[in-house]
Amino acid sequence: MTKKSPPIAARHVIWFGWKLVIILSVALCVVALLKLHSQSDLSSSPSIIRVRSRRPSRDIIFSGPPKIAFLFLVRRSLPLDFLWGSFFENADAGSFSIYIHSAPGFVFDDSNTKSHFFYGRQLRNSIQVAWGESSMIQAERLLLGEALEDPANQRFVLLSDSCVPLYNFSYIYNYLMASPRSFVDSFLDAKEGRYNPKMSPKIPKNKWRKGSQWIALVRDHAEVIVDDEIIFPVFKKLCKRRPLLDASKGKMNAKLQKQHNCIPDEHYVQTLLAMSGLEGELERRTVTYTSWNLSATKMETKGWHPTTFTYANSGPEKIKEIKSINHVYYETEYRTEWCRSNSTSVPCFLFARKFSQGAAMRLLGEGVVSRFSASALLDPPP
Ligand SMILES: *[C@@H]1O[C@H](CO)[C@@H](O)[C@H](O)[C@H]1NC(C)=O
Ligand SMILES: *[C@@H]1O[C@H](CO)[C@@H](O)[C@H](O)[C@H]1NC(C)=O
Ligand SMILES: *[C@@H]1O[C@H](CO)[C@@H](O)[C@H](O)[C@H]1NC(C)=O
Repeated sequence: MTKKSPPIAARHVIWFGWKLVIILSVALCVVALLKLHSQSDLSSSPSIIRVRSRRPSRDIIFSGPPKIAFLFLVRRSLPLDFLWGSFFENADAGSFSIYIHSAPGFVFDDSNTKSHFFYGRQLRNSIQVAWGESSMIQAERLLLGEALEDPANQRFVLLSDSCVPLYNFSYIYNYLMASPRSFVDSFLDAKEGRYNPKMSPKIPKNKWRKGSQWIALVRDHAEVIVDDEIIFPVFKKLCKRRPLLDASKGKMNAKLQKQHNCIPDEHYVQTLLAMSGLEGELERRTVTYTSWNLSATKMETKGWHPTTFTYANSGPEKIKEIKSINHVYYETEYRTEWCRSNSTSVPCFLFARKFSQGAAMRLLGEGVVSRFSASALLDPPP
């Protein structure tokens, strides 16, 4: 069939139609702009700093299978790579991505890593991280920033080098994807005096929060963290760990003893999201289990220590016990958090720390992360 050009009268009608469409579009744009303007006026009220993505590439509406970005924050290598390798082996390649922040210059390849999933996945712009310093939260921001470059990444899970999965991939994928909320452990920090009054007015005291560093975020919240230019500099300047008392180091050490003892990674994301008015979009709990050793003495100024799981104390009963936890109690708020994903009751924890290689080996052997674990154990990948 050939297309004939329409007669003159019809062409006039079409041209008139086009003009109408153009005029209407312009009018709609003006209305939209006015509306945006009035909204930004509203949102500039003092403690709400909802920062939207400045990079337009990120705002593209994504369609396709969503991915979970697994963000590993490690000292150097990944000692539990064999367990994670088996975990990812049972996943659809299009449903996850991996990013690693390690010591600058450390390259993941077959000489130091037992699973090909990690080869070359380290960030090129990684920084030297000091535990308990603001470099830790900067490393988290670098991981989130890199992962945001892929529009398929819709969930962002932060993990350490001693974290293990407690379920197979499909279970964890469905759990996180079903939830339109981020999982961020966050509670009122009533006692400890880590809040420094000098942070006010940029960080008001009533927005100061505490919580576990190990978070799982939806994309919008990851963007808020990467785009933050206001709260991070305050943390860098005023949230620092107090060095251990050391008389031999003289006056400087004595002076530092007076500063507020603050651990940035236990406050930054929680406080930023509270200040951004986003607490209503959170499940205010972590999906990563930590066992606290309450018997650690007060002499150790770092306070409680996480227990390390070894081959001996990571048996099936212990794992079952962790997986059966369905609520968390927050003392400072008298709040019981019943664990939910998209309003459905679920076990609280998907991951756990801190696991030794022996404990991870045991999980693999028990078939916690995959059905084919026994063969994976006998026949490790090259
Ligand atoms: C993954 O784990 C869930 C729950 O433990 C189980 O029901 C499911 O069959 C497992 N899927 C695979 C592919 O092993
Ligand atoms: C969340 O729950 C609602 C209501 O039960 C359901 O319609 C929706 O499909 C669920 N969303 C996901 C992503 O599972
Ligand atoms: C708890 O901490 C104490 C003192 O630091 C230590 O002796 C003990 O082995 C720890 N217990 C566990 C289970 O890690």
